[in-house]
Amino acid sequence: MRLLWLCAAAAALLLVLASAGTLKDSPTKERYDHYEVYRLTLRNRLQLDVIERLAELSNKYNIWKDYDAHSQELHIMVSPEDLQHFQQLLRVHGIGSEQMVANVQALIDEEQVTAAADTAASDGTFGWTKYYELAEIEAWLDSVLAAYPNVTEQFIVGQSYENRTIRGIKISHQAGNPGIFIESNIHAREWITSASATWFINQLLTSEEPAVRNLAESYDWHIVPVFNVDGFEYSHTKNRMWRKTRQPHATSECIGADANRNFDSHWMVNNGASANPCSETFAGDVPGSEPEARALAEYLSSIQDQFSVYISFHSYGQYLLSPFGHTAAEFPDNYDDLLQIGAAFATAIEELPYGTVYTYGSTADVLYVATGTSVDWVFNELQKKIGYTIEYRDKGRYGFILPPVQILPNCQELMAGMLALIDKTKQLGYI
Ligand SMILES: *[C@@H]1O[C@H](CO)[C@@H](O)[C@H](O)[C@H]1NC(C)=O
Ligand SMILES: *[C@@H]1O[C@H](CO)[C@@H](O)[C@H](O)[C@H]1NC(C)=O
Ligand SMILES: [Zn+2]
Repeated sequence: MRLLWLCAAAAALLLVLASAGTLKDSPTKERYDHYEVYRLTLRNRLQLDVIERLAELSNKYNIWKDYDAHSQELHIMVSPEDLQHFQQLLRVHGIGSEQMVANVQALIDEEQVTAAADTAASDGTFGWTKYYELAEIEAWLDSVLAAYPNVTEQFIVGQSYENRTIRGIKISHQAGNPGIFIESNIHAREWITSASATWFINQLLTSEEPAVRNLAESYDWHIVPVFNVDGFEYSHTKNRMWRKTRQPHATSECIGADANRNFDSHWMVNNGASANPCSETFAGDVPGSEPEARALAEYLSSIQDQFSVYISFHSYGQYLLSPFGHTAAEFPDNYDDLLQIGAAFATAIEELPYGTVYTYGSTADVLYVATGTSVDWVFNELQKKIGYTIEYRDKGRYGFILPPVQILPNCQELMAGMLALIDKTKQLGYI
């Protein structure tokens, strides 16, 4: 009996030691057992302040989707330890809430189970029925470059903080085609974005559908399937919910900045990003503080005469967002055109059997103020008149952990939307 007790005590001590070990740089994966995600309805500034302060003060709360004035919603993930306090706070402030996800870890586990059943990657081909890791995506990219040497070419955007190479692929069937630049997975946890980007690359190279062949052969495509390479790798190996870069901060324990708030365009105005290094939307200490954002700005400047359309892949929420991000009080001169193109994109997607609805409009108007984004930087600083952020599926049922069975439907929506977007952009004379 005593021996048993001793063993149990020793085991408990080991557990304590092990969990203390995970506080620093954990060799194991962060778990999200019984973490819940809530959809909050915030009806006034005070309610919003309460929640934003909560999220900024403790990194145990994680905002999945920021507040927007149209839906009045904010999506937030809460740890089981904080749940009681959280619910009390909601009661005190009369904040309406609805549980969206009951156990985040269960969704992550489900995602992995489906992944294990997919053997496609082992022979170097992709099936898009699972989410692939960075090394798999890079090996696949190598195989594509080798298989299509006369229409593809690798380009290098630069190096990440952890010295990974940020790679892209250019697909060109003839010199002088109008160029389209696609940047994907700047936010690490948005895995559907690189899944969609790799699928899209494959379609441009292999599809025999006339409309897709025309898309492939009439334009030069510059595609970066995984831009935030450090964050993406970290989201696979350590923490599924990682969003930011991986550069440490000089005076904070918190790591990384939001690369999509770090570009030098209306940087940090109108509360469009956070000055707090622990926030998910930390803008960095200065514009271009993140080596990745700096490298992309330099690379895009160097090839600015080679592209006319810029598209950034994100999830989630089902939006097609155009400039401006920094203010909802002003719109670009060609906003009517941007809306027309947005309508074409959304209609094409809604007409598919899934009936998925996308909302379109300026970032600040239909979603929220966001400053220093790549799309706004390209629009404002490189004067590219057609720029969009695509926020893929879904509306929050699964959020960032979109089940692998939805990868292909999401990709079909991307193709339908992209065909319509490029078609309308051409009709309006931009390309
Ligand atoms: C690529 O090059 C090969 C060999 O020169 C040629 O047969 C093929 O038609 C080329 N393909 C394209 C798309 O230009
Ligand atoms: C990246 O490489 C540079 C030059 O080799 C080195 O000084 C630096 O420590 C490396 N950074 C990381 C995070 O490994
Ligand atoms: Zn994003």
